[in-house]
Amino acid sequence: MKIKTSFSFQEALSFVSTKEIEQNASLLTTAYKNVINKTGKGNDFLGWLDLPDNMVSQMATLKRTALQLAAQSEVVVVVGIGGSYLGARAIVEMLNPYFSEFQKQHSPTLLFAGNHLSEEYLQDLIEVLQQKDYLVIVVSKSGTTTEPAIAFRILKEHCEKKYGKTEAAKRIVAITDSTKGALKKMATQKEFQTFVIPDNVGGRYSVLTPVGLLPVAVAGFDIEKILKGAADMKEYLYHFQDFSSNIALQYALLRFLFYQQNKKMELMVAYEPKLFYLIEWFKQLFGESEGKEHKGIFPTGALFTTDLHSLGQYIQEGERMLFETVISVENSHGKIAIPHDDDNLDELNYLIHRTIDNINHIAETGTRMAHVDGGVPNLKITIPAITEEIIGELIYFFEFTCAVSGYLLDVNPFDQPGVEAYKKNMFTLLGK
Ligand code: PA5
Repeated sequence: MKIKTSFSFQEALSFVSTKEIEQNASLLTTAYKNVINKTGKGNDFLGWLDLPDNMVSQMATLKRTALQLAAQSEVVVVVGIGGSYLGARAIVEMLNPYFSEFQKQHSPTLLFAGNHLSEEYLQDLIEVLQQKDYLVIVVSKSGTTTEPAIAFRILKEHCEKKYGKTEAAKRIVAITDSTKGALKKMATQKEFQTFVIPDNVGGRYSVLTPVGLLPVAVAGFDIEKILKGAADMKEYLYHFQDFSSNIALQYALLRFLFYQQNKKMELMVAYEPKLFYLIEWFKQLFGESEGKEHKGIFPTGALFTTDLHSLGQYIQEGERMLFETVISVENSHGKIAIPHDDDNLDELNYLIHRTIDNINHIAETGTRMAHVDGGVPNLKITIPAITEEIIGELIYFFEFTCAVSGYLLDVNPFDQPGVEAYKKNMFTLLGK
């Protein structure tokens, strides 16, 4: 039951008192029990809780399919939006080396489509696909979402023209509902290979289903280890049931206490740019889960030190409505030390023998101290390295925290009624 992820709220203690924590203990316990006993709002969408166990039986099929797909193509286009997109992208971006597109590849390159309505993007993508052997994984739980549906129609047409209809059907995999939706209907009719998103798992909690696992496996990563990490985190979170020992409960309650102090924005920060899409995934998970009934913390994100040169001023001295959560990676793969320079014209010789990673960590400590001094409470999630197992832990940790956080706010963390509003207007304007 040993997890590798840790959580610290040391730098938040000057903003919340032990009394406040104690006063909310029973509220927290109720929220926690509602999650693990599946008795809270939206409890028909709690299937994600059991995915680390339930997905084990699908591992062999997913891995076999991934190998077949990878052998067939240089490029795999993953079509999807929101929860049908961000999880896979987050994992692949975290695990791939930087500049992977310029390195010798053993696995196909993943490209993404259907996550916006840019015509120019699709046009350029098709020009690339013209030159490459490719296949398409189309992901949509409802099977009716406009952005991926449009992209898929264009790509299907291209694929059929390039390879012929019979071969194209073999180059398309659908991940969708077991029975409902236009994509399911099309997949059945056209005999696309199909994987199912379980009924009791909502889009943004679906990364540990084929939605996230198939593309990640195609990209050459070990999905069994991801699931193992999630299973370890599950075991830990179910075993330790109170604030003093459970890191998801600590994180959820502190967020809630900050919210009550009018700190209504959470800035998720990483000092490693490859976590960019993890932050995007976090924003979607928490934003869609908590932001309803005119309540909820606004989740946002930043990459430091880059954004210290843009948002840094605001964070330090702007309106005091923020708290910050830092995802700190203890060890990077790189080992570049600052070299000695006889001329020292750049005046950097005081840094010789430090690695860049060491300087990055010192920047992290210095920034945290400054932000806490400036009135921004800081939480810290630490991971020893970026690996499949640890990513599995993080996913389950965030999902669990999000569910508890939703219940603390007394909202249903598993629906998203507000997402419909823009669609209604768009459909009316388009004359649907
Ligand atoms: O979390 C959610 O439910 C949403 O973000 C969906 O994932 C997103 O809207 C895409 O939906 P679908 O998979 O039905 O195309």
